[in-house]
Amino acid sequence: MTIPVKTLAAIPEHFTMTEDEIRSKFPTRLCGYDLYRKIGSPKLVVAPMVDQSELAWRILSRRYNAQLCYTPMINAKLFYQANKGYIKEQWQTNDNDRPVIVQFCANDPDMLLNAAKLVVEGADAVDLNLGCPQNIAKRGHYGSYLMEDWDLISKLIRKLHENLEIPVTAKIRVYPDVEKTVEYAKMVEAAGAQMITVHGRLRDQRGHKTGLADWAKIRAVKEAVNVPVFANGNILYYEDIQRCIEETGVDGVMSAETNLYNPALFSGKILPTWKLATEYMEICQQVPTKFSYIRGHLFKLFRNSLPVHTDLRQQLVAAETLEDYDQFTKDIETRLIEEANVSSFDPDHIEKDEHGYRKYPHWICQPALRFEHDKQRSHTKRLLNEAEADKQKNNNTINENTDSKRLKSTAI
Ligand SMILES: Cc1cc2nc3c(=O)[nH]c(=O)nc-3n(C[C@H](O)[C@H](O)[C@H](O)COP(=O)(O)O)c2cc1C
Repeated sequence: MTIPVKTLAAIPEHFTMTEDEIRSKFPTRLCGYDLYRKIGSPKLVVAPMVDQSELAWRILSRRYNAQLCYTPMINAKLFYQANKGYIKEQWQTNDNDRPVIVQFCANDPDMLLNAAKLVVEGADAVDLNLGCPQNIAKRGHYGSYLMEDWDLISKLIRKLHENLEIPVTAKIRVYPDVEKTVEYAKMVEAAGAQMITVHGRLRDQRGHKTGLADWAKIRAVKEAVNVPVFANGNILYYEDIQRCIEETGVDGVMSAETNLYNPALFSGKILPTWKLATEYMEICQQVPTKFSYIRGHLFKLFRNSLPVHTDLRQQLVAAETLEDYDQFTKDIETRLIEEANVSSFDPDHIEKDEHGYRKYPHWICQPALRFEHDKQRSHTKRLLNEAEADKQKNNNTINENTDSKRLKSTAI
C-alpha cells in the first residue's frame, strides 16, 4: 500500500529566515497567544479609524472598558518621508495608552519597515491594513486592493516579521468564498502575522452596500489558524459581543462605528450622550486634539439630537476653537437635560421597533442604524442570533466548562 505524502506548500523565496532563526534574532519578541496574553488577553477592541481613533478617543474608550486600541491607519510612505511635526500628529500616544497597535497601510515592504521602526518604542505591535475599501486605497494600491496580490501581502508582512523588534498583525476582509478566505488567512499567518482581525465583509460592502458582516466566515478563519483572531462587524449592542464570541469562537471583538456613537459600548452602560461628550472634551483639554477630529466625534455623539435642535447644529458647524467646542457641549447638555425626562428613563424596559432594534431616546448613546434594507436583513439575522444565543445559554448551563461560560464570568 502506498502511503499518500502530504504535500507542503512551497516556502516563498522572500522568506529568507526560518522561524527558529527569527526567534533567535528577537528572543524576547512574543508570538501569537504569548503576545495576546502579554497585552492582557483583550476581548474588547477599538478599531483603527482614520481621524477618529486618536489618542483622546482611545483614552475615553479605555475608561469604558476598551482593552486594546488601534490607532488610525497611517500611510507608511508619507509617515516615513514626513517631517517630525507630521509624525507627532499621526502617532500621538502617552504612557497610559497601552496596549496599543499602530496600523499602517503600505505597498512597499522597505517603506513599511522604515515607517514601523519609528513607532516601536510606544507600540505593542504594528498592524497592516488589508481592509480599506475606499477609492483612495484603490488609487494608492493598498488596503483591500492588495487582495489580488497575495505575494505582495506576504512580502509586506514577512518584512516586518523578519526585521522588526515588535510583532506584526493584520486586519483583513473576507472573500465571497469561504475556502478562499481561509486560505488567505492562512497565508497571512504563514507570512508572520501574530494576530489577525477579520472584518467579515467583502471589499464591495461599503457605503450604501455595507450590509452585514459574515460571522460564519470569521468562524472558519478562527478554526483554521493558530494565532488569536478578532472578529469585526455587526456589533450594535453590548449583548452582541458575547453572541459574536460564542458564534465565532474568536478571542476578541472589535468595534468601529458603534464605538463612535456609543463609546461606553464595552462597559455595557446605557449613558446620555452629553456625559460622554463632556468627558471627551475634558480629555481634549489635556491632550491636544485636531479640531476636525473633535468635530467628527461631536457630530456622531449627538447625531440623533442635532436634527431636533438645529440651532445647536449651526453652533457646532460654526465652531472654530476648543472653547467653541466646549461651549457647544455645555449648551447642548443644558438643552438636553431640560428636555430629557431622565428620571423616568429605564434602560431595562426599552421598547423595540418593528425590526427588533431598541428605541432609545435621542439623547442616549446608541448605534447608528443607517439603511432601511440593512435593517430588514439585520432583523432576520438578529432573530436568528437571538434564537442561537438562547440555545447557547441552555448548552452552557449544561456544560459548565465551555469556553463561553468562562468568558461570561470574566466581564468580557
Ligand atoms: C470613521 C471610520 C474610519 C475607519 N478607518 C479605518 C482605518 O483607519 N483602518 C482600518 O483598518 N479600518 C478602518 N475603518 C473600518 C473599521 O475599522 C471597521 O473595520 C469597519 O467599520 C467595520 O466595523 P464596524 O461594523 O464595527 O463599524 C474605519 C471605519 C470608520 C467608521
